[in-house]
Amino acid sequence: MKTILITGGAGFIGSHVIRRFVTNFPNYHIVNLDALTYAGNLRNITDIENSLNYTFVKGDIVDVQFLHELFAHYDFYGVIHLAAESHVDRSISDPLAFVTTNVIGTANLLEAARKAWQKNLGDHLFYHVSTDEVYGELHNPDEFFLETTKYDPRSPYSASKASSDHLVRAYHNTYKLPIVISNCSNNYGPNHFPEKLIPLMIHNIINEKPLPVYGKGENIRDWLFVEDHARAIDVIFHKGVIGETYNIGGHNEWKNIDLVLLLCKTMDSKLKRPNGHSEKLIHYVTDRAGHDLRYAIDATKLKTELGWVPSLQFAEGLARTVDWYLNNTEWLNNVTSGAYQNYYQEMYEGR
Ligand code: NAD
Ligand code: DAU
Repeated sequence: MKTILITGGAGFIGSHVIRRFVTNFPNYHIVNLDALTYAGNLRNITDIENSLNYTFVKGDIVDVQFLHELFAHYDFYGVIHLAAESHVDRSISDPLAFVTTNVIGTANLLEAARKAWQKNLGDHLFYHVSTDEVYGELHNPDEFFLETTKYDPRSPYSASKASSDHLVRAYHNTYKLPIVISNCSNNYGPNHFPEKLIPLMIHNIINEKPLPVYGKGENIRDWLFVEDHARAIDVIFHKGVIGETYNIGGHNEWKNIDLVLLLCKTMDSKLKRPNGHSEKLIHYVTDRAGHDLRYAIDATKLKTELGWVPSLQFAEGLARTVDWYLNNTEWLNNVTSGAYQNYYQEMYEGR
């Protein structure tokens, strides 16, 4: 039985990766390491928490001593590293938290793996999950991010993720640590914390609150259903070539305002509200500082070399997502009470 460490498994994407690995690979022992920050929620994975091949460990990747002890305790075959501070707006108000977790935390994890695996380094795998934001922003509609695109991070979040990517590659080059990296576009789906565009809009539409669209709503993102990302991580973990990078994307670009309008329409119909009802809640607010214009991934390498393509049409994925939030109001109420209220006030009030 191989033991695999997945970090950040109580978060949005991590929860889907945990579920997939625990369910599909009974011959793996999956250890989920998560600090349970505001973004980590064990309710995301209650369905698998009693599985025999699953262990949850609460811990912080910033605590290097703890990581060395964890690697001494478990004989990890591999690591899938997702734990991170992940929200761009929070990185603008608190950049050092992002440097601490995303840069120092990743360095600590690399060091723990290198030391624990030094006798048979080649028999292991360190998989680092990263973002398309490391490539910067696009202006020309014919341009896409390739694996070879030069790094140009423009927010504290993307700079911290770029730094962590560089560290992972440096460990491969210097110490021959076997690594793979993937850079994915915007995910959406169940368990998404309502600080991000889609779940925030869903939450506000339900509660008939203003829908804050940054700037003119013309920024573009490429959206991928989170289960398709989890499947891509599975494919890359098992079939990816050591030292390589794979871009993951939905080939599904949307201007923010068009996406918000689509959500309004979808939710009006689900909530049996008159057509055009939620649209009236749209409220243009001060733009995000340094707001990247467009992200768009070219995932040809992943398709041609490893055979992965997205499985869901956006309309279906979005309908599934909306249904999930409407059927999980307790989850939504739980994560939007308490500290979320202060966050929301500071971020949006008077904006
Ligand atoms: P998330 O914020 O929902 O979850 C992050 C998880 O990491 C949480 O469970 C949190 O408790 C945990 N965590 C945070 N700091 C930690 C620490 N110091 N030690 C241990 N655990 C800690 O994030 P997400 O959206 O699921 O993103 C997961 C990963 O995927 C991140 O590395 C992110 O950069 C990357 N990514 C996200 C997207 C996206 O659209 N959300 C797209 C591409 C890549
Ligand atoms: O591209 C991958 C990245 O996608 C991930 O690495 C990040 O972890 C993830 O948070 C996401 O970053 P974005 O900044 O693109 O996602 P967010 O949902 O915060 O915003 C999406 C777009 O919507 C962006 O152009 C800003 C805009 N926006 C966002 C919020 C929260 C609004 O107009 N209003 C809002 O209230």
